[in-house]
Amino acid sequence: MAEKNNGTGASGRSSAEGALTGNASKRAKAKAATGDGATTAQLGSNVARVTKPVLTPRTSKVAAQDSEFLTTAQGVRLQHTDDSLKAGVRGSTLLEDFHLREKITHFDHERIPERVVHARGAGAHGVFEAYGTAANATCAQFLQSGVRTPVFTRFSTVAGSRGSADTVRDVRGFAVKFYTDEGVFDLVGNNMPVFFIRDGIKFPDLIHAAKPEPDLEIPQAQTAHTTFWDFVSLIPESPHMLMWTMSDRAIPRSYRMMEGFGVHTFRLVAADGRTSLVKFHWKPVLGVHGLVWEEAQMLAGMDPDFHRRDLANAIAGGVFPEWELGVQVFPDTEDQFFEGIDLLDSTKLVPEELAPVQPLGRMTLNRNPTNYFAETEQVAFHSGHVVRGIDVTDDPLMQARLFSYLDTQLTRLGGPNFAQIPINRSVAPVNDNHRDGSMQQAVHQGRTPYLPNSVGGGCPFLAGVDEGGYVHVPKTVEGAKTRQRSGDDPYFQATMFWRSMTEVEQDHIVDAFTFELGHVEVQGVVDRMLTRLDAVASELARRVAMGLGAAVVPAAEGGLLTDGSGFAQGEDGGAGSATESPALSMNVAQTFPVDGRVVQVLADDGADLAGIRLVRESLMSAGAVAHVVATHKGSITGGRRGADRLVVDRSFHTASPVEVDALVIAHGSGLAMSPAAITWVQTVYRHCKPIAAWGDGVELLAAAGIAVDAPGVTVVDKPSKRFLQTLVVAIGGHRVWERLDPHPTRVTLAASEARS
Ligand code: HEM
Repeated sequence: MAEKNNGTGASGRSSAEGALTGNASKRAKAKAATGDGATTAQLGSNVARVTKPVLTPRTSKVAAQDSEFLTTAQGVRLQHTDDSLKAGVRGSTLLEDFHLREKITHFDHERIPERVVHARGAGAHGVFEAYGTAANATCAQFLQSGVRTPVFTRFSTVAGSRGSADTVRDVRGFAVKFYTDEGVFDLVGNNMPVFFIRDGIKFPDLIHAAKPEPDLEIPQAQTAHTTFWDFVSLIPESPHMLMWTMSDRAIPRSYRMMEGFGVHTFRLVAADGRTSLVKFHWKPVLGVHGLVWEEAQMLAGMDPDFHRRDLANAIAGGVFPEWELGVQVFPDTEDQFFEGIDLLDSTKLVPEELAPVQPLGRMTLNRNPTNYFAETEQVAFHSGHVVRGIDVTDDPLMQARLFSYLDTQLTRLGGPNFAQIPINRSVAPVNDNHRDGSMQQAVHQGRTPYLPNSVGGGCPFLAGVDEGGYVHVPKTVEGAKTRQRSGDDPYFQATMFWRSMTEVEQDHIVDAFTFELGHVEVQGVVDRMLTRLDAVASELARRVAMGLGAAVVPAAEGGLLTDGSGFAQGEDGGAGSATESPALSMNVAQTFPVDGRVVQVLADDGADLAGIRLVRESLMSAGAVAHVVATHKGSITGGRRGADRLVVDRSFHTASPVEVDALVIAHGSGLAMSPAAITWVQTVYRHCKPIAAWGDGVELLAAAGIAVDAPGVTVVDKPSKRFLQTLVVAIGGHRVWERLDPHPTRVTLAASEARS
């Protein structure tokens, strides 16, 4: 007699075949009940059914907070928790105090190891809605028209510890967990489309070099130190990624304003077995924007949680961040090249001008985590979590990742059962035959957790292709066993990146390299890096060298590139022929929504409160946030008689000029004599943010040495609709780069070229 195997209940069946039929018909009934059998067109109207898990997520089934009284973990109600059980009022403490021992012991074990990389992060829940545009290319159900899938997204920095600052110069992780009806799909990407290395075997070396140096464990969350530049200067394929990390992409204004990239090439599989190669892209609705470096550094001290706070505030304020998911699509050719670009090389991108990003759907993040540890800390992403219709490729970086994530999570999350943690649970039914192990939460039934079996009725059943079974694309793999690498041109696309930047972006890259290499203590490393930069763009190398007071020795004149790296530079190839890609620039002449942008209204007692109210309402109706900032908290008085009062949001003690996107100076504030206010305005001006003033607010501008007709400065007698519209447009343009003087190294280089 067959036994009950587990939750799917095939009890009583006499043969696996019979059970298969029975199970299929049971699934069919379930489908009918839930509307799963609906046509594509109907799926769109099934939103309520599909989205239900978004609002009833994987909540804990473990008794946790279901007593109105404080209890021990065993449910014993407590009548005192402030004093331990002692012999006499001053002790000694008694070992028999079970409450003390349990409380302290649990506390002692509250921490788990932080992620070995990407330890610092912030997460949010949301929903992904597919447009259906990929229906022809993939059978993945969550990409069919109108299907809405719950998601959890975690953004992160790479090098810093869990408590490090958000605004450091670094790559940002952009990991999305799709809880699809066919299982979990994780798109574990970054905010940059390429990577430092081409093969995952170098990942431990890269991270050891980038993390704080092991003798003194400094510096925290920075690559501006000797070992990082020592390593990358010896890695021929690193220049392209270094251009990205030295650009403003590495200091994003907000997680909400970052692009995301799957980096590797994936393979999509259509229902009829056709395959195509794709690269995934996330495009933020708010545009791609960066901080300026001084601002990023100041923020790291003044508000280390700047990005985390920005994301949470925007969601709490109802301005939900959105991204469009898209793919670049390439034919699945035998050589897996596209227009001369090696699709299996993660140090190369495909310019969007050659393969446009085709939109697949939209992600909206609409709910903050309820508990940081339970969700954001315990979430376990894995590039190997794919669903049918999506497959991996041979990219050697990707292949190492496929091993690494599950392996690291076994340690980080304390055993093999972390898929049962609420945030990691699939919404698709699970029946994996895994058993036991540390922290097992399930009470499995039956005695046949193995296949094949007959005693358990053959359960659980294997799914045929028509039942949603995952099939690996049957690709032929051949080649001699070797540790060699394929041909590689490490500089061509780095040069393309440099050429695609605007002047301001190039200036920032020069400054970033100068800052970072200025912290390197070994001159040989700096020299080698300058030689490498010269191979990217001679102008870049010479300008960085100027700032460092060093000389560039080009490779052709004896500069060393490959010493100590253990392998020779590859032959040219794999980089394509595009010399520029305008899509790589962040500085586009476009105005974006101002959702969640922060504007400070500088004011003080005596200010024009009616004007402030008008400014605040207009900004808020545009989606921005307005903070009234004064010299003190509480409220400020308006006019001379002081009958009218306005609550102050922040004081000079609790706010800072780096936390804003624009500044407005109110009439009547009388701040022109305040050194703190003068520095405040100058800082905002230096960081190229829009500034506006009305009435005698201009006196503060004058005291700060800012001309009323300077770029991005708007001055009026009284706030009007037009004034406020101008301000909103200016904020939507992000920064007023015209304010900057020509970069000194640009001027010096041009002068020296004119002389020669
Ligand atoms: C294209 C290259 C890569 C990208 C885009 C990438 C992206 C990410 C992201 C976004 C995270 C954080 C996930 C989270 O928020 O929890 C992460 C974590 C991690 N990555 Fe990568 N990574 C890359 C390369 C690699 C390689 C080559 C390895 C190892 C061979 C690796 C190993 C890890 C590990 C061990 C973690 C920590 C995971 C955890 O503790 O849950 N990564 N990676």
